[in-house]
Amino acid sequence: MDRNAVVKVGAMASATVCALFGGVVFAQYIFTKKQRAGKKTKIIEMMPEFEKNTVHIRDPERVEQIICGLIKGGASKLQIITDFDMTLSRFAVNGKRCPSCHNIIDNSKLVTDDCRKKLVHLKETYYPIEIDPHLTMEEKYPFMVEWYFKSHTLLVEQRLEKDKLPEAVRESDVSLKEGYEQFFDRLHQHSVPVFIFSAGLGDVLEEIIRQAGVYHPNVKVVSNFMDFDDNGVLKGFKGELIHVYNKHDGALRNTEYFKQLKDNGNIILLGDSLGDLTMADGVPNVENILKIGYLNDKVEELLEKYMDSYDIVLARDETLEVPNSILQKIL
Ligand code: TMP
Ligand code: MG
Repeated sequence: MDRNAVVKVGAMASATVCALFGGVVFAQYIFTKKQRAGKKTKIIEMMPEFEKNTVHIRDPERVEQIICGLIKGGASKLQIITDFDMTLSRFAVNGKRCPSCHNIIDNSKLVTDDCRKKLVHLKETYYPIEIDPHLTMEEKYPFMVEWYFKSHTLLVEQRLEKDKLPEAVRESDVSLKEGYEQFFDRLHQHSVPVFIFSAGLGDVLEEIIRQAGVYHPNVKVVSNFMDFDDNGVLKGFKGELIHVYNKHDGALRNTEYFKQLKDNGNIILLGDSLGDLTMADGVPNVENILKIGYLNDKVEELLEKYMDSYDIVLARDETLEVPNSILQKIL
């Protein structure tokens, strides 16, 4: 072969190698890209419940990863930690506000008209502080203590009778979120522990879920429980007060419960207040935690803050569709 021919063959060979190499790199790039895109939305994108315009997620890839971890762990690793008022119960029906546990008593005939006026006045004073987007939790804290102290003192003064609570609940407009039967029944079926952690009234809360037929043995309620005298008349409250912004302390008081569940390192946390984010602080061995937040009031002002804090934000959502769809994948 002459010199020219050698150069030609050499040039062709290196061009082929370059083309081959380039092709491999390009193919790899496309493959990785596809894989990444697929990974990002594999599960969530296949779930129609996530397409609702109530659903807001800051970091879908993170949510995807957590849900994968929850699915992998299955029922035996899972536990639920949930708030009650305006999380499991509805915030509004057809634009009309629904009562919290406290409001059930406020609106009932168990209190005098004069007391009702005072309780309503307290709510009008302190509820705006509870949800004020411009105050920090630390700033709100002392006002919550004040609200609970005044409200609970009024209830004790009314000498509420234990026997009358079921009727007050029956006659109230309280309503659990759509899909609650499926939520509680599936968790019961798979023996998943449910910790309801509420700054409401424990006795009223228990009556609500009992009347709804979902107070199964896998459910534990931690809340403000009334202390009745021998005649069943309210004389005070048991234990430490739980208000909206001290759930961290309450969570730490329940470390015994969480220790018993040491194998349940996968958590779904449900709340509606930024104070609810601390409800899992007593869990010693968190592996995966998915925080789902219902944003009911001051939605426009609070959306960004909620999206920074909760993995999934459900704005003006009166259903348990999203949590149920996730549970369906896990269980
Ligand atoms: P939660 O922790 O189950 O959401 O319950 C706390 C809610 O109860 C919180 O939103 C404040 C509300 N609340 C009343 O509605 N009336 C009252 O008198 C008090 C003290 C609290
Ligand atoms: Mg709540």
